[in-house]
Amino acid sequence: MRSPRRSAARRTTVLSREAVLLTVPAVVAALLGAAAPAGSATSGKPGAPGAGDAYFPLSGNGGYDVRHYDLTLRYDVASRHLDGKAVLTARATQDLSRFDLDLKGLSVTGVTVDGGAARHTTRDGQELVVTPRHALRKGHDFRVTVTYRGTPKPVSDPDGSPDGWIPTDDGAFVANEPQGAMTWFPSNSHPTDKATYDFTVTVPKGYTAVANGVLRGQSTAHGLTTFRWHEAEPMAAYLATSTVGKFQTEQYTTRDGVKVYNAVDPREAKKAAPVLKKLPSVLEWESKLFGPYPFRAAGSIVDHAPDVGYALETQTRPVYDSAPDLDTLVHENAHQWFGDSVSLTSWKDIWLNEGFASYAEWLYNEQHGGDSAQKTFDALYARPAKDALWAYPPGDPGSGKYIFGDPVYERGAMALHELRRAVGDKAFFRILRAWAAAHRDGHGTTAEFTRLAQRESGKDVGPLLHTWLYTKGKPAHA
Ligand code: ARG
Ligand code: ZN
Repeated sequence: MRSPRRSAARRTTVLSREAVLLTVPAVVAALLGAAAPAGSATSGKPGAPGAGDAYFPLSGNGGYDVRHYDLTLRYDVASRHLDGKAVLTARATQDLSRFDLDLKGLSVTGVTVDGGAARHTTRDGQELVVTPRHALRKGHDFRVTVTYRGTPKPVSDPDGSPDGWIPTDDGAFVANEPQGAMTWFPSNSHPTDKATYDFTVTVPKGYTAVANGVLRGQSTAHGLTTFRWHEAEPMAAYLATSTVGKFQTEQYTTRDGVKVYNAVDPREAKKAAPVLKKLPSVLEWESKLFGPYPFRAAGSIVDHAPDVGYALETQTRPVYDSAPDLDTLVHENAHQWFGDSVSLTSWKDIWLNEGFASYAEWLYNEQHGGDSAQKTFDALYARPAKDALWAYPPGDPGSGKYIFGDPVYERGAMALHELRRAVGDKAFFRILRAWAAAHRDGHGTTAEFTRLAQRESGKDVGPLLHTWLYTKGKPAHA
């Protein structure tokens, strides 16, 4: 951004005063430098290679904040080749001499910053280091364009699961939690940096590319079909998808005006149909409990991906590796509030996602003729002290290896149940809604949740939450 107050006359004065002291080549350089674009700084520091997450130190980057991703992808299903162009609109949060993007295993063919060629190198296997011609001034909005290509491969998570762009027999299952975004587009891959997205994805005719948000258009020419998707609400990179396959698709709008798009692998269609039919009623039920659905699009991607082993709450449209059961549908859609709209600040707080989504399943069963939440709690609590459920506390799993373990999902849900018992139903459901509303399209931490629960209930629930979230071993049950 140009400072409007700095007059041309004053700039001339500064230049000529400097010129007196400078050598001839330096004067030439200074004059050339006068052509430096708005928003450039005379000096700056490199942005950090990570966002500071204790579990995933290289995830995300420092020095800038992405506002928008415009991704143009072309995937050839047969050869598994991906051509990509990513245009990131970002704001410098410091005077920035260079910055990193997270990208792994693909070759970069060009990088520009604000239209000018920028130097780039790769470091530590997943850091694309970009050095713009001029340092970027703090507060300046800049645009990075990266063109890249290659055969994307998933990363293996600390828990052994594949994550990222995972090829299937008819395309690719694309799910990035926690670190897989870097396998298919350059990003600031940490949930602290959320941005809006446009996806333009071209695949061979007969295949469908399903991303997040609303379908803006679809067109076929020369044996290729292009899908244009738009996600208008801020989204963490791990929640982006661009799943490709041979899908049956359906579209409709719910009574609340949410645009639903379902894509189903025909091999899963029969089993998926009765569950997917319940999506509108599940979303309505969750909206009653948690507050208004946070996005304008919804849906499901039901793939046939037997090697994946999990589903993911990709924003607006969860992706399932096979036909989901009703519990899973309830779980992934509860994440739209808890995890997607209200995002993590650090991976250590993962129970804020998984404990909440798991407790949503308990509540759903309780209110639809199944076991009461108390019964579910009791069955878990009956597990002996040496059971894996008590192996570590959910509020600090200790490393990325354990973030998707039973203590996080089940003991995390138990923590919420104990909170509910302590404050009563009225206050408890008020807490859930207040949490979703206060941090909508934003972030939260366990400390913030504890304070909010305290405020909404008027009770000192700190010690109880501390016991259930942070103490080692099986908690004594009140
Ligand atoms: N968040 C997903 C869920 O709904 C699980 C993701 C598992 N990912 C992994 N890399 N193990 O529970
Ligand atoms: Zn989950």
